[in-house]
Amino acid sequence: MKSPCTTHSLTPLKSKANKMGETGGGKRWNFGANEVVELSCSQNVRYFLNLLADNLDRNDSRPVIPLGHGDPSPFPSYRTDPAAVEAVCDALRSAQFNHYSTTSGLPIARKAVAEYLSRGLSYQICPNDVHLTAGCHHAIDVLISTLAVPGANILLPRPSYPMYDSRAAFSQLEIRRYDLLPENGWEVDLDAVEALADDKTAAILVINPCNPCGNVFSRQHLQKIAETASKLGVLVIADEVYKDITFGETPFVSMAEFAEIVPVMLLGSISKRWCVPGWRFGWMVTLDPHNIMKDSGLVHSLANVLNMSTDPTTFIQGAIPDILEKTKEEFFSSVLETLRECSESCYEEIKKIPCITCPYKPEASMFTMVKLELSVLEDIKDDLEFCCKLAKEESLIILPGRSVGLKNWLRITFAVEPELLKDGLSRLNKFALRHSKKKQQP
Ligand SMILES: Cc1ncc(COP(=O)(O)O)c(C=O)c1O
Repeated sequence: MKSPCTTHSLTPLKSKANKMGETGGGKRWNFGANEVVELSCSQNVRYFLNLLADNLDRNDSRPVIPLGHGDPSPFPSYRTDPAAVEAVCDALRSAQFNHYSTTSGLPIARKAVAEYLSRGLSYQICPNDVHLTAGCHHAIDVLISTLAVPGANILLPRPSYPMYDSRAAFSQLEIRRYDLLPENGWEVDLDAVEALADDKTAAILVINPCNPCGNVFSRQHLQKIAETASKLGVLVIADEVYKDITFGETPFVSMAEFAEIVPVMLLGSISKRWCVPGWRFGWMVTLDPHNIMKDSGLVHSLANVLNMSTDPTTFIQGAIPDILEKTKEEFFSSVLETLRECSESCYEEIKKIPCITCPYKPEASMFTMVKLELSVLEDIKDDLEFCCKLAKEESLIILPGRSVGLKNWLRITFAVEPELLKDGLSRLNKFALRHSKKKQQP
């Protein structure tokens, strides 16, 4: 049987792939692995999920419990609203959306997204400022490619959603990391932000509600972030893919409210709130009342990158006005109620597990970060070994904290069916007890 963590995914590039100019079978070929790609993708969630999947014991007849990623769509409690499905079917049946998209998306879809995002805001978003993308991931690709001019740098949170790190590394955009502070409810360390930035800092990323920490920023804190960014002359990238997925005390406030203070690039999608990540529909919105982004040329470059890129499928764009308009409020409230129940049972069960602590009760998104107390464990040296052994012995997938930037922490997804979560946390508890140091007899 393979021992944990010795899978092909950890094999160094040199031994598994031809380097350019080396020979294969005696003949010289002029292509090979791209080391920049290899280095950038070693920082993303899929890389670690594949690694953990390789450690699963195929002889374990129990179902694998996936607490490693945020996609609850396969579970009955999170099935999307029939009205959204109907909207897609209608768009397809109409045969009006089989054509290529226009740059930035179909006008009807841009208008619908502008109206949706303006609900509850103190002003109306203009449809021309909305650019449609194939999920939020695509918006990240486009935006990071646009910002990656030689010498520029970007401020990313630690911990973070690692796609930004991978994408920036791939585009050779320098990454500077500021901390989110667990002791302050995972708020931004604003002093660190000021110390990190210089005149080559293009942007700061703010993920709110937060993946991976499960917190949501207060209005006051968002304002302070906006003021700091304005003082430093940097753009705020507001990733609001978990917009409105909050179930605690703190209400969600959009960074859009602070666009008067600092230019904001608002990113989002229907993936999480509608539980349909496979539909690949998202957006990027330039909130720029003082034309700062426009006059700097950024908006023009963004449109050019979009021109070189793919589009969300046209039939999803055709369906989006009905998806946004007709989805029943009961669907959203039922999903939020399930998430609230799951987050609470996750928090309570974690308290009973000897080697992990949760510094902050999650109140948003689909995740929580917990700290590993390695000193109480007998035969586990770090977060990666913990997760590999957990996958192997308990068929339970949890992400090692290093995958989101915090070594010796874990990121746990609670967005699964409640019964499955209970089973997963009980397996985690058994595993932790089995690997804990045995108490000395007096
Ligand atoms: C913070 C964050 N941003 C962006 C994305 C990507 O979203 P999408 O599925 O719409 O591409 C995710 C997905 O997990 C995420 O957690």
